[in-house]
Amino acid sequence: MKTPQRIQPLINDGLIDEVISQLMSGKEATVYMVRSGTNIRCAKVYKEAIKRSFKKAAQYQEGRKSRNSRRSRAMEKGSSYGREQQEQAWQTAEVDALYKCDEAGVRVPTPYGCFEGVLLMELITDAQGDVAPRLNDVILTEAQACRDHATMMNYITRMLCAGIVHGDLSEFNVLLDAQGPVIIDLPQAIDASANNNAKAMHARDVNNMTRYYSQFAPQLKHTQYAKEMWHLYEKGDLLPETELTGLFAEDTHSADVDSILDEIQAAYEEEQARRERINDAIDQ
Ligand SMILES: Nc1ncnc2c1ncn2[C@@H]1O[C@H](COP(=O)(O)OP(=O)(O)OP(=O)(O)O)[C@@H](O)[C@H]1O
Ligand SMILES: [Mg+2]
Repeated sequence: MKTPQRIQPLINDGLIDEVISQLMSGKEATVYMVRSGTNIRCAKVYKEAIKRSFKKAAQYQEGRKSRNSRRSRAMEKGSSYGREQQEQAWQTAEVDALYKCDEAGVRVPTPYGCFEGVLLMELITDAQGDVAPRLNDVILTEAQACRDHATMMNYITRMLCAGIVHGDLSEFNVLLDAQGPVIIDLPQAIDASANNNAKAMHARDVNNMTRYYSQFAPQLKHTQYAKEMWHLYEKGDLLPETELTGLFAEDTHSADVDSILDEIQAAYEEEQARRERINDAIDQ
């Protein structure tokens, strides 16, 4: 097909040889199938800020610090230089998250870098070599749903151990290849320890996945993986290979009311005694 303007610089630099087809054009990006030498890859071209929905940008960007303080200040001020820097931060956030996930043992498309607002990555294909479907487009057997759900819980665990919460995990952002689920679309990934919304976003990610798989395996419906995982994470006990159970006992430990009442009574008596001593002193 005719080379889209935004991809031309990568062709000039020899990173891409040919654009084969457009896979889709969404809210935030247009995705192409491209050829680099003998490899067929995927190129995601980000739309510019004005064309993207920025509804939740602030929520996601909280805690996303730039290492460069001039850049941080510019980003906060919202100058045109600042906006440009923010734009770049958004674009590199996805490639950074992909590298981290890949390293943490989470199945994501292998990243090859982000150049001029174009992310180059592995094209995920199915057993026939066609572009892999999204979870939303497939029907699973109960056994496959249970197995893939367990894999997904492990991927979310591994991401959390690496300090990442996806933030937009759903059946629309997971592809299915011959080996299992592959997580995509991470530009909004957030820092688990620095973002106040991390716990809620993590729970939403986990619960979206559980809801999806429980359509095929209803026994998953009442599992409590989000709470179990976050509890272990907060205690510093979550490891990439932690075997989760899906069970979580809410802290229903009733407070030890009797001993609290004893304490209050003792404090009251002590105060009474003190006042009596004061009164006695005044009377004398
Ligand atoms: N590495 C890949 N391999 C195969 N297909 C891909 C890959 N990356 C993206 N796609 C396809 O392109 C679609 C859009 O990609 P992605 O979700 O990353 O972009 P997006 O702009 O956030 O889209 P949306 O707004 O629909 O979520 C995916 O649903 C998937 O079908
Ligand atoms: Mg998407």
